[in-house]
Amino acid sequence: MKRILVAGGAGYIGSACTEYLLDHGYEVTVYDSLVTGHFDAIDPRADFVLGDLADRDKIISVAKNGHYDGIMHFAAASLVGESMTNPSKYFRNNIANGINLADAAVEGGVKSFVFSSTAATFGQPEKTPIEEHDSQKPINPYGESKLCFEKILNWYSQIHGVKYAALRYFNAAGATENFGEAHDPETHLIPIILQVAAGTREKMMVFGDDYNTPDGSCIRDYIHILDLAQAHMLALDAPESGHYNLGTGKGLSVFEIIKATEKVTGKKINYEVAPRRAGDPDVLIACSDRIKKMLGWKPQFEDAESIIASAWNWKLKNPNGYRR
Ligand code: UFG
Repeated sequence: MKRILVAGGAGYIGSACTEYLLDHGYEVTVYDSLVTGHFDAIDPRADFVLGDLADRDKIISVAKNGHYDGIMHFAAASLVGESMTNPSKYFRNNIANGINLADAAVEGGVKSFVFSSTAATFGQPEKTPIEEHDSQKPINPYGESKLCFEKILNWYSQIHGVKYAALRYFNAAGATENFGEAHDPETHLIPIILQVAAGTREKMMVFGDDYNTPDGSCIRDYIHILDLAQAHMLALDAPESGHYNLGTGKGLSVFEIIKATEKVTGKKINYEVAPRRAGDPDVLIACSDRIKKMLGWKPQFEDAESIIASAWNWKLKNPNGYRR
């Protein structure tokens, strides 16, 4: 049995990974401030500590007392648009508070650290699909904060021997049977389109139709959270530190996602074209060959329709998201 500390286990991706670890025989402690996470998103089989990573003494004491084999770090601010108006929040939460968790790993003798990094570390990519060694020039403070923390982990690995995996997610999407996406306010594309499908939002905005893409809207690589969860579990036992891109290798434009959602839900999606959102690159598509080859990652969800269908299924069961 392995013991894992999951920082941010009440959030969208953290809750699905916690569930996945528990399903695979791990013991999990969730550490979460519940500022953006939800109490009801914490798998009831996990232990729960209410805490903020800003509380350095608390997270260090939890790590020292818990005898953990691994730490997974999902506890971060993660909105590209918001980072363009409030960079301080991003550098504080994602770097300063992240350092408290890295120090907790050192003080607690934790040997494996899996970090939620992002495609946003690449900025405007020089080629598609993006490979791990491609140049990283973030175009928003969110991506910059995550890139900086990747570098911090690299030094901690060299100096303190904490092995790490930086998993650069492209666009996390979909739901498990029990856990799904519920942000307040919601800014992500698929849950917003599903609000329109469910009739709780009159229409959605397509942010820009003048990008350098075939239909003018941004192209993203949508990856199911269960496939991310599998990658996290594999990364815990990776023999050495490394960086891995995580996507399906297929890009869909905003208009294509709207069409796919209409097909899955059988509902017409009302939309309007609006100006571009600051900080959005035209196209982000992952090459995930490295994690397949090095860690044996086998994604289960290859097409956008099945990903959207899982999110729709969760939405129908939880029309108002989580209760608390
Ligand atoms: N979009 C719209 N209308 C909306 C919401 C989004 O047109 O109402 C567009 C965005 O402009 C973007 C695409 O849909 O082109 C996807 O937007 P999301 O907000 O769903 O996701 P992002 O691509 O901005 O960001 C997500 C994660 C980041 C991660 C990034 C990596 O939130 O953490 O994917 O690709 F860095």
